[in-house]
Amino acid sequence: MSVKKVVRMGDPVLLSAAEPVVKFNTRALSRLVNNLLDTMAKHDGAGLAAPQIGVGLQVVVFGLAANPRYPEEESIPMTVLVNPRIEPLSDQVEDGWEGCLSVPGLRGLVSRYTYIRYSGFDQFGGKIEREVRGFHARVVQHECDHLDGVLYPQRMTNMRAFGFEDELERAVEAEEVDKKE
Ligand code: NI
Repeated sequence: MSVKKVVRMGDPVLLSAAEPVVKFNTRALSRLVNNLLDTMAKHDGAGLAAPQIGVGLQVVVFGLAANPRYPEEESIPMTVLVNPRIEPLSDQVEDGWEGCLSVPGLRGLVSRYTYIRYSGFDQFGGKIEREVRGFHARVVQHECDHLDGVLYPQRMTNMRAFGFEDELERAVEAEEVDKKE
């Protein structure tokens, strides 16, 4: 295991644009990918971008198989994506709650494209291209934003829909009780 420290909001590395990877299938790149996968797994994350462990390269990992942090979401294949590009395939957007390991404990409502095509390479230089919707599309947009130095709170338009995860859950539960009474 090589779990790295996750950089938190406020560190300038999270606001910098990451550089493209120029050489694939190297030991350095495979070490970076392993560090990202181990660190993501340790924190039960759905995704992690290289800048979040302090590396300014265009590498993200994501994937979701029955994740306790996202119990209600569909699974996403475990993916290593290098030098990604995203293209929206429709103008339709959708609000959804997001969290980020670099913004621990908080959740915010963010609008994202519902249907996208993403492309890039795996760590060996193999081409990846997928058309995806919903939560999968959301996770990819969130992770790729990190490579442009963008954190999800910068995408938020309604700061009233931003809060600590446990308080937000308590509020939802209280509302459900209210409805029953
Ligand atoms: Ni994030």
